[in-house]
Parts: sequence; C-alpha cells; structure tokens
Amino acid sequence: MNNRQPFSSDIPAEDLLKIIFEYASKLAHENDLDTLHILMAEMGKKLTMADRCTLWIADPHERKLWTKVAHGIDRIEIPLSSGLVGSSYQSGETIIIHDAYTDSRFNPDIDKKSGYLTKSILCIPIRNADKEIIGVYQAVNKQSYPSIFSEKDITYLSLAATYTGQSIEKAILYSELVESQKEVIYTMGSIGESRSAETGNHVKRVAKYSYIIARGAGLSEEEASLIELASPMHDIGKVSIPDAILNKPGKLTNEEFAVMKQHTLTGYSIFKNSKRKILQAAAVIAKTHHEKWNGKGYPEGLSGEEIPLYGRIVAIADVFDALATERPYKKAWPLEEILNLINQEKGKHFDPQLVDVFFDQLPKILEIRSLYAEKPERMSG
Ligand code: C2E
Ligand code: SIN
Ligand code: SIN
Ligand code: SIN
Ligand code: FE
Ligand code: FE
Repeated sequence: MNNRQPFSSDIPAEDLLKIIFEYASKLAHENDLDTLHILMAEMGKKLTMADRCTLWIADPHERKLWTKVAHGIDRIEIPLSSGLVGSSYQSGETIIIHDAYTDSRFNPDIDKKSGYLTKSILCIPIRNADKEIIGVYQAVNKQSYPSIFSEKDITYLSLAATYTGQSIEKAILYSELVESQKEVIYTMGSIGESRSAETGNHVKRVAKYSYIIARGAGLSEEEASLIELASPMHDIGKVSIPDAILNKPGKLTNEEFAVMKQHTLTGYSIFKNSKRKILQAAAVIAKTHHEKWNGKGYPEGLSGEEIPLYGRIVAIADVFDALATERPYKKAWPLEEILNLINQEKGKHFDPQLVDVFFDQLPKILEIRSLYAEKPERMSG
C-alpha cells in the first residue's frame, strides 16, 4: 500500500500548497491541450489522494465527453449523458459516491474493458469564465482511510476545476486557431488566389484596429483576439467579383455595385458551415461589415444593435483603413478628412458608442497605422 497518511483522509495543508504551486507554474506555460489535460488530471489526483483522476471535456456538437490518458495515443470517448460523469455534466451537480456499483447511474463499461474496479467516485463540473459547463473532473478510488471522498476533496477539486476551466478554454481556443489556419489555407486553395488590389497590410491593419476597438469597448482579451483573427477575412468574398468591377479605375455603376455587394454574402457562405469559433466569427463579420447603424447598409439593411457587434466594430476599422489607402477608384484621403467623416457618420453609418471608443483609442490606432504603413509598390529606377 502506498497510503502515506493512513488515518487522515485529507491531504496536509503544506502538501496542498506545494501541489498548487508546482502545477500552477507548469500549467501557466503550457498551450498544448493534450499536455495540459494530463497535467490537470495529475493535479486532481494528488489533491484528492485518488487512485485515478480523469478530466472529461465536452464536445457538444458530437454529443460526447472525451479524455486523454498519459501515454495513450487515442482519446477515450463516452456519450454526453453516460454514467455519473454525464450526470454531473448535465445536472451541473457535484456527485460523491461511496460504492459506484450501488448507484444506478454508474456505467461499468470502462471497468469491464479495463479490468479496473471502481469503488468511490467524486465528479465535479468544470465551468469556463462565462460559467458554462465545459467538462467534468472525475476522481476515482480514494487512497486513504476512510476510502471515501470528503468535503475537503470537493473544495480542493473545485478550486482546481475553476483554474482548469480557464486554462482549458484558452488551450481549446489555441487549438482551434491551429485547426482554423489549416481550414483557411484549404479554403483559400479551393477558391483561388485573391485578385483584389488590396494589400496584405490592409488586412493586418484592419485586424489590429478591430482588436483595439474591441478592447476599448470592454470586450475580453479572448473575444478581442477572436475578432482580430477573424476580421482579416471580411472581404474574402471579393475573390468571386469579376476583375472589371473589382479593379475598375472609376466609379461603379449601380449594376456593378449590386454585384460588388454580393461579396458580403459570398464571404458568409464560405465560412457559415464551419463549427470553429474563429470561422463562425469570420462568417458573421463577412456578412455584416457593410451594415449601417441607420439601417441603410447591406446586405440585409439591419440597424442598430440588430447588427452583430463584431460587424459594427470591423465596419469602422475597414472604412478608416479604406479611406486612408489608395484604391484603383480613389486617392488616399488625408487623416483629418477621414476623422471628420467618421465623426459625421456617428449614429448614421457607425455605432455611436464605438465611434467614441475609436476616438478614445486614436493614439493606439495611429501607432498601428504607422507601424504597418504600406511599403512603396516598386523600387524606383
Ligand atoms: P473598400 O475599398 O474596401 O471600401 C470599404 C468601405 O470604405 C466602402 O464600402 C465605403 O464604406 C468606404 N469607402 C471607401 N472609399 C470611400 C470613398 O471614397 N468615400 C466614402 N465616403 N467611403 C469610402 P462600400 O461603399 O460598401 O464599398 C465596398 C467595396 O466596393 C469597396 O471596398 C470597393 O472594393 C468597392 N467599391 C465601392 N465603390 C467603388 C467604386 O466607385 N469603384 C470601384 N472600382 N470599386 C468600388
Ligand atoms: C465512466 O467513466 O463512464 C464510468 C464511470 C461513470 O459512470 O461515470
Ligand atoms: C464609394 O466608395 O465611392 C462609395 C462610398 C459610399 O458612399 O459609401
Ligand atoms: C455593446 O453593444 O455590446 C456595447 C458596445 C457598443 O456597441 O457600443
Ligand atoms: Fe467589404
Ligand atoms: Fe476591406
């Protein structure tokens, strides 16, 4: 037996601190979801003196809870409603059981496959910063006498669960980023190279301006980063606009402008079926970045807060940058005239509160503008 404290069922306070400090620093530097997953399971196991601890993560689209075990290659999956873990996930309740086999909710399938004998169980739901349940911590077989989980174990594992929820969500966002990049590359590849005369720095600037406005409007770091990552794709629908319209050196006719307006819906349809948060945000932004606060925009003529916030944010960033840049159909505007226009369009084209945010954040925006200024198109001589 490896019971170090045979007559105490809870971990000593100094060990508790050691474990928390040890894992807090490891977790803080880890972005890889699988590694985080394993570290957190280890931490839960030590905190509760359990023989095993499993961190189950929900995949609501697939209606599954999955986990990853050390050295294991594959994920283990169970249905969202299966067993005590599923019960805790769906009810949001902490569950303590002394003998799993006496509880009708227990699902013995995993024991049957592995030959393991589950006795005591503790299940605690894990919530993200928005208090949504994103998974369940499950500790199995308390390794001390009495061999049942206690109120202290609940406290310790709940603490770990709070921390875990935040780290896991960050890691999921990061792994989504990696997946999204692959998807974007694939998508771009399938629809051909963009022919728009807009340069790479245009999309970078729009992304940074959007981030600054989003933060200034009080959005979280995570959400502002999401907008930053998604906004570069706002004009991706322009790839299907005929060259004669896209790069026309003069003003568009009404018919030509009607075709041009389609870039919003084309962009939306490229991303709308993706499950990825970033690409869902890209779909919304592509569709709504030309809506106007007064309802006179397109494609749907939405007004005010009917327009998704992401679209309202990117609208300001996009126009600010479009006006500042030379296009086949227009010269670059001087800064003062651009700022006048944005001010005039407050409550007309643009969300008035976001125009205030834009002016509050102007020093940062101008910093980005000079940092990502266009380089001369070609070398002279
Ligand atoms: P874009 O060039 O990226 O411009 C984005 C938005 O910035 C425009 O959306 C508009 O709200 C604003 N904007 C750009 N230039 C001007 C300007 O000279 N004056 C004013 N008041 N606002 C400006 P919009 O109007 O919905 O246009 C969407 C896209 O359609 C533009 O994207 C551009 O690709 C194209 N487009 C619009 N008008 C013309 C045109 O007269 N000629 C050509 N060749 N393309 C045009
Ligand atoms: C399982 O992990 O699916 C078996 C234990 C339980 O019923 O929660
Ligand atoms: C244009 O780009 O010429 C149209 C600007 C506008 O009226 O929104
Ligand atoms: C909000 O609408 O959520 C506040 C930001 C704004 O639109 O000004
Ligand atoms: Fe656009
Ligand atoms: Fe644009």
